[in-house]
Amino acid sequence: MCGIVGIVGNVPVAPLLVDALKRLEYRGYDSAGVATLETGGVLARRRAEGKLRNLEAKLAASPLGGLIGIGHTRWATHGAPTEANAHPHATDKVAVVHNGIIENFHQLKDELKAKGRVFASDTDTEVIAHLVTVELERGLSPVDAVGGVLKRLTGAFALAFLFPGHDNLLIGARRGSPLAVGHGQGEMYLGSDAIALAPFTDQVTYLEEGDWVVVTRQGATIRDENDTVVQRPMVVSAATAFMVDRGNYRHFMAKEIHEQPDVMGRTLGQYLDFGTGRTRLPALPFDWARLDGITMSACGTAFYAGLVAKYWFERFARLPVDIDIASEFRYRETPMKRGGLALFISQSGETADTLASLRYCRAQGQHIAAVVNVTTSTIARESDVVFPTLAGPEIGVASTKAFTCQLATLCALAVAAGRARGVLSDADEAKLVQALAEVPRLAAQALRLEVQIERLARRISKSQDVLYLGRGTSYPLALEGALKLKEISYIHAEGYAAGELKHGPIALIDEKMPVVVIAPHDRIFEKTVSNMQEVAARGGRIILMTDPKGAAEATISAVETIVLPEMPATVTPMIYAIPIQLLAYHAAVLMGTDVDQPRNLAKSVTVE
Ligand code: M6R
Repeated sequence: MCGIVGIVGNVPVAPLLVDALKRLEYRGYDSAGVATLETGGVLARRRAEGKLRNLEAKLAASPLGGLIGIGHTRWATHGAPTEANAHPHATDKVAVVHNGIIENFHQLKDELKAKGRVFASDTDTEVIAHLVTVELERGLSPVDAVGGVLKRLTGAFALAFLFPGHDNLLIGARRGSPLAVGHGQGEMYLGSDAIALAPFTDQVTYLEEGDWVVVTRQGATIRDENDTVVQRPMVVSAATAFMVDRGNYRHFMAKEIHEQPDVMGRTLGQYLDFGTGRTRLPALPFDWARLDGITMSACGTAFYAGLVAKYWFERFARLPVDIDIASEFRYRETPMKRGGLALFISQSGETADTLASLRYCRAQGQHIAAVVNVTTSTIARESDVVFPTLAGPEIGVASTKAFTCQLATLCALAVAAGRARGVLSDADEAKLVQALAEVPRLAAQALRLEVQIERLARRISKSQDVLYLGRGTSYPLALEGALKLKEISYIHAEGYAAGELKHGPIALIDEKMPVVVIAPHDRIFEKTVSNMQEVAARGGRIILMTDPKGAAEATISAVETIVLPEMPATVTPMIYAIPIQLLAYHAAVLMGTDVDQPRNLAKSVTVE
């Protein structure tokens, strides 16, 4: 949710902290701040409400010196997004930045208030600064003070501390939220992820759950939750500064939409051998043939990818899929037969609800598999087998290329499962692999529809409500289309299974309501056409996404048609996702919203 950075260096760090925060702004952007130690180890802070540019303006007007500092970009949980609630929070003895939630902060705050401590913000974070201060005032060293305070905190968090008078000391801690240590030449760094540290170093150590770290210019000492000094491996991070560049695109989202032919191709190439027509998976800790079913859990767009995959696994592999939203699944207390397969889908690999679901399934004796984009993430590290999506860093808050790469990966898995279970023959497998090989070409063709879609987006941008309909694998796409439009244009939208229309939502239809129908000409096309007739009969304005055959057969008035190329039914979700994303993108651009950083949202949701 929030982004954290810390630098102990040899040149003034404030500009570097801001540079790192720019790369972390996708995690939260309702306020930002930095603190450094200026001459004589004196703490100085600048904080600003709103986007990072407001903080930059403050720093330009009133620069900060100092060779050591911490920074933060916030997604508000406790307390409004005001300057007073912006991090770092500080006393005269310590400054702290925090990502996550301190669940027992009310109790701690009452205790501190009773001791006469006065609070300047409404945040849970400020209690940490005061708790550490109390310990420092008792004469403890910063390391002992933080070590003791960490044991009093409940909840999920990552923290970075800076201490006035100690210009060669940062302390970081990780419980539930990620934190990485960057190793430079006589300089050291802390960051929420390797992307933040990419301009400084590619030598990164990821803290493990419960770890905390003492960082100086000379290196880092990591302790585990029992305070035992431990060694964690240093890895070379693949996140380069170049990869998080917007290039010639106006928004990251536009760039990421246009990258899809390439990244889907790369992802599919990892799981398919196009030469032999076979799937190829890493060594598996389970046997597809012995499974009774799969339990899937994910959030948001990743959940919709899983919903599409349910159709594939059930059809190709005759494997029943039980899929749920992770925030529901984690508390559902689902009984599970030991030895089953639980599959989690997540771009970030840090989503709190998905991670909690994973841990529940682990406790239930399941094999844990994950489809993730960030392979250094907690979900990846806690899984028995990881199926990476090769989407590259996704910066736009609205997920686009991560979604289609999740679909590509899940489709390859379903085909592999089908073959392993003997449901698909060699010839079936080869035919499906051949169909998937067409995906990059078809995706590039779909992108060529952008001019037409931009025109249609004008109509959408003037609407108050939009309905998305689809059947089969197009039903989760309808849900995804509605989510995409809502989150970046703020237009109210709903996705429905087309067959469900007459059970309620049809009451919404009038001449003002655009209805986006996703209907490739497949075995249930006729049924969707009937549902379109029902919409048209009530004056609804239809935007139909189909192929040449569908366009020829859907003889309904009041239809605007986006004609995609003919393609095998299996690959339609990966290709039809593209016009859906473009429609939402252009509607949002026309409405002048902040496409990459829509209001109230954050890229990685590490709180409940
Ligand atoms: O990182 P994850 O894939 O676990 O994130 C899940 C959702 O938070 C995410 O897909 C969210 O719904 C996106 N903003 C959708 O565009």
